[in-house]
Amino acid sequence: MPHRRILVTSALPYANGAIHLGHLVEYIQTDIWVRFQRMQVNDDGSPVEVHYVGADDTHGTPVMLRAESEGLTPEQLIDRVWKEHDRDFKNFSVGFDNYYSTHSPENRALCEEIYGKLEQSGLITKRPVEQFYDPVKAMFLPDRFIKGECPKCGAKDQYGDSCEVCGATYSPTELKNPYSTVSGAEPVRKSSEHHFFKLSDPRCEGFLRRYTQGENHLQSEAANKMKEWLGEAGEGKLSDWDISRDAPYFGFPIPGTDEKKFFYVWLDAPVGYFASFLNYVKKQQAVGKTINADAFLRPGSDTEMVHFIGKDILYFHALFWPAMLEHAGFRTPSKVFAHGFLTVNGEKMSKSRGTFITADSYIQQGLNPEWLRYYYGAKLNATMEDIDMNLDDFVARVNSDLVGKYVNIASRAAGFITKHFDGKLRAVDPSDNNTLAATAVAMGSADNIATDYENREYGKALREIMRIADIINQRWDKAKPWELAKDLARHPELHSVCSDCLDAFRILTYYLAPVIPETAAKALTLFGVAGQPRWNDIHISPVSVQPYQHLMTRVDPKQIAALVDANKENLKVTTPPPSPQPSPSKGEGASSTAEAATISIDDFTKIDLRIARIANAEQVEGADKLLKLTLDVGELGTKQVFAGIKSAYDPATLVGRLTVVVANLAPRKMKFGMSEGMVLAASGDAPGLFILSPDSGAQPGMRVK
Ligand code: 2FM
Ligand code: ZN
Repeated sequence: MPHRRILVTSALPYANGAIHLGHLVEYIQTDIWVRFQRMQVNDDGSPVEVHYVGADDTHGTPVMLRAESEGLTPEQLIDRVWKEHDRDFKNFSVGFDNYYSTHSPENRALCEEIYGKLEQSGLITKRPVEQFYDPVKAMFLPDRFIKGECPKCGAKDQYGDSCEVCGATYSPTELKNPYSTVSGAEPVRKSSEHHFFKLSDPRCEGFLRRYTQGENHLQSEAANKMKEWLGEAGEGKLSDWDISRDAPYFGFPIPGTDEKKFFYVWLDAPVGYFASFLNYVKKQQAVGKTINADAFLRPGSDTEMVHFIGKDILYFHALFWPAMLEHAGFRTPSKVFAHGFLTVNGEKMSKSRGTFITADSYIQQGLNPEWLRYYYGAKLNATMEDIDMNLDDFVARVNSDLVGKYVNIASRAAGFITKHFDGKLRAVDPSDNNTLAATAVAMGSADNIATDYENREYGKALREIMRIADIINQRWDKAKPWELAKDLARHPELHSVCSDCLDAFRILTYYLAPVIPETAAKALTLFGVAGQPRWNDIHISPVSVQPYQHLMTRVDPKQIAALVDANKENLKVTTPPPSPQPSPSKGEGASSTAEAATISIDDFTKIDLRIARIANAEQVEGADKLLKLTLDVGELGTKQVFAGIKSAYDPATLVGRLTVVVANLAPRKMKFGMSEGMVLAASGDAPGLFILSPDSGAQPGMRVK
C-alpha cells in the first residue's frame, strides 16, 4: 500500500444555531473514521497522514437577519457561535485539526480564483431572474422568508416553498396573499441579473456522468440517485446553477459587480473546506511543520479527499462541488460519504417533546459524551439509512455493553492482580494452551475489525468487539477466580486467567479507541501506554498493570428524563425563529407544527413498509391479546413481532401467509420480549381484526409504497 495522505471533512454547520444531537451523528461518524486512520501505519511503519478540518458556514440571509434581530453585526454573531461550536466539538472529542470559518481571507481568495477560472472557461452566464422583493426592507426574499396561503388547500401562514398542512410544493409566486416574514410587507416581483454556473454545458454534464458513475466516489445508492438527477445523455436535465445573490447579503462580493452581487452561500461553503485546510497548513508552517498543500488541493497526486455529509446535501457535494473544482483547476473529492437522518424514539426530533437535544444541554446534564459516541457507533453503517436513537435502548445498550461487558473485565481482573501478584502479569506459558485463551480470540479479530472501520461499518465492528467481550467474560466466569483466590495452590491458575483477561481487555481497548477515545486513553494508562495508540501495538503484551481506576459509570435513566425535560424548558425560554434553511438531517425542520394531523409524502416515505412471510406464529404464555410472530422479511432477514391479533387468529392458520409489516419501527421491549416491527391490521367499530395481505406475486422483503 502506498503512503496514505488523507484530507477529511465533515459538513460545515450554519453559524446561526446550536449544535444538537442530529449534527453529532456526522461529526462522531467522521471522528471515528479519522481516529481509526490515525492509529494506522503504512507498510514502512510511517504513520498514515490524516488532516481533519471543519469550519462554521457563516454566510447568507439567515445569519444576516439573525444578527440584526439580536442587535449584533454578522461578524459579532458568527464569532460568538464559533466559540459555542468549538466548545461543543471539544466536549464530544471531535478532533478537528483546524476549526475555521468560511468568513475568512483564505476563503474569499479561493472563491475569487474559482469564479475567475470558471468565467475564463466560459462556464459563467448571466440572465435576469424575477423574484419576490420586500419593498420595505429593500431586499430580495429567499423562499423561506415568504409566507402566505397555500395555493392548494388555502391553509394560512405557509412557507414559500411547501405547505406543512397538505404537503403541496410550489413556488413562492403561487402563494395567495403573500407577505414577507421580515417586514410583514406584501412582496412585489422584481427582476435582477443573476450569475449562473453553466452546469448544463456539455463539458460539465460529461464530467459529472464520468465522476458520479465511475471509481466509486459515491455509495451505490447515491450513484443511482445521481443517475436519476442527471437523466439520459442529451435529455438536458441539469439546469444552470444560480450562484449570485443581490445586496444586502452577508457574504463575499462577486468581483466586478461593485458589491451589488454576492456569492450565494452554497458556493463559498464547500470552498471553506479548502480554506480551513490552507489556514491549518499556515499554522503548521509557523511551528516548523511542512504540509504540501498543493498535493491535497490540486490534481495529479495520490492524496485522498474524503467528505462526510448528510444525504440532504448530496446534490451540492456530488454535482455542484466536483463540477466547480474540475473546471477551476482543483482536485475533485475521492469520496463523498452520505449518512441518513437522526430520529429520536422513532420520530423527527421535536422541540415540544424535548427530543431536540442540544450538545451543550447533554453536557450540562452531566451525561458522558462517550456514551453517545458508543451508541451512535453501534448504530452506524455505510448506508444512507436513517438512524434512530431510542432513549431506552440508549440506556440499556451503554450499560450492558460498555459498562457490563467491557469495563467490567478490567475492574474485576485488575483487582486480583494488584492484590495477589503485586501488579505483575503472568508471562505467557507456551506449554499451557489455556494461558492465552481470551487474548488469542481478541487478537484474531484485528483485521476484520479494521476492515469494518475502514468501510464505516462501525455497528459491525462494535458487535464483533462485544462478541469478544462476551467470550472473555465467559472465560472469567468459568474459571471462578473468586474461588481460585481462596486456594493458594491454585494461584498460578488465578494469575493466568486474570492476566489473560486483562490482556484481552487491553486489546479491546485498542479496538474501541476510535469510538471512546477518552476512556480508552485512561484504560491504556493502566498498562503504561500513553500517547497516540497504534493498531499494531495490540501485539505488545504488558508485563504489569497499575491499580484499577474507575473508567465509566452506568447511565441512570433519570438522567435521560432530566435531559428531555431540560430541552423542553429550552424551548420555552429560547425558541429561535423558524429556520429559513431547513436541513432535515439536522432536525431544523422540526417544529411544533410537525405534529399536524396531515403528513407530507416525505413523512409517508419514512415508513418502511415491507412484505413479510409469517414463518411462525405462536401463543404467548400469559398474554391476553398477543401472538408472537416470526417474520421473514427477505433482504431484511427475520424479525420477531408481537401482534395484538390473538382474538382474531388461530396461530396455525397464519403460518406461511404474506402480510405487511412496518419494518423500521424502533424495536420495543415488551414484557414478553423485543418486538421488532408492527404488522398492519384493519379494524372498525364492530368486532373483528383483519391483517393485510398483498396480491399474489409479492415476495418477502418487497417495499410497499
Ligand atoms: O446543510 C448545512 O448545514 C450546510 N451548512 C452544510 C454546508 S457543508 C459544506 F458545503 F460547506
Ligand atoms: Zn396546503
